[in-house]
Amino acid sequence: MKKLIVGNWKMNGSLAANQTLVQAMLDGLAGQAPASHMALCVPSPYLAQMQLRLTGSAIAWGAQDVSAQEQGAFTGEVSAAMLRDFACRYAIVGHSERRQYHGETDSVVASKAQRALAAGITPIVCVGETLAEREAGQTEVVVKRQLAAVIHAVAHCTSEIVVAYEPVWAIGTGQTATPEQAQAVHAVLRGQIAAATQHPERVHILYGGSMNAANAASLLAQPDIDGGLIGGASLKAADFLQIAAAGA
Ligand code: 13P
Repeated sequence: MKKLIVGNWKMNGSLAANQTLVQAMLDGLAGQAPASHMALCVPSPYLAQMQLRLTGSAIAWGAQDVSAQEQGAFTGEVSAAMLRDFACRYAIVGHSERRQYHGETDSVVASKAQRALAAGITPIVCVGETLAEREAGQTEVVVKRQLAAVIHAVAHCTSEIVVAYEPVWAIGTGQTATPEQAQAVHAVLRGQIAAATQHPERVHILYGGSMNAANAASLLAQPDIDGGLIGGASLKAADFLQIAAAGA
C-alpha cells in the first residue's frame, strides 16, 4: 500500500508563514508525484487558504478536530459539513491533546469519527498509551479499547477510517518509539481492524510521535506502519518532504 504522510500543524502558523511553508513544499515536489500520499491538517481558520493553495496539487488537506454534533447551538464548534465546504479530505479525531486537555472520551471520539464519515471526510483516529500505562503493561488494552469504541460506532465503515498510533510519551518529546515497539502495537491494531472489516487492506495505520526526517525510513520499513502523523517536522518543508520521500 502506498504510504500516507500527514502533517499535523497543531496550533501553529499564520497566513504569511503558511504561504511560505506550503509554497516551499510545492516547489520541492516540483510537479512530481510524491512517493507517499501527503496531507496537511491545519487550524480551521486556514482551511480556505489550503483549499486555494493546494487544489490541484499532490497535497490534500484536513482539520485537526470535528464536532461530535451535527449543527446548532454549540458555540465554538466546527461541524463536519463546514469542513466539507472547504473540501477537507481528512479530520483528525481523538488526538491525545484533545483527550487530555479537552476531556474527550472514547465515546465522544467515536461520535466525531461518525460525523466525519457521514460528511464524506476520512477520520484519522488517534490512539495511544501514556507512559504510566505503558509501564503498567497496559499498552495493548488501552489502544484496543480506544479503537474498539470507534469500530463499534462506525461498523461497516471501518475500512474507511485511518488509524494513527501515537504513544503519548513520544509526542513532542523527541523520544520516538523504536521501530520494533511501534510495529508491535501496529500489528495488534491491524489484527483488530482485520477482525472488524472485510477490507482491512484499505486501512492505513500511521505512526506518530517525534517522527522526523532521520527516523522516518526505519519506521516506515515496518510491515504494519503505513505512514506517519507528523507534528513538529511538518512545520519544516524540507523535513516533511524527506519523510514523504522515505515512504517510497
Ligand atoms: P510530534 O511529531 O511533534 O512529536 O507530534 C506528533 C503528533 O502529535 C502528531 O499528531
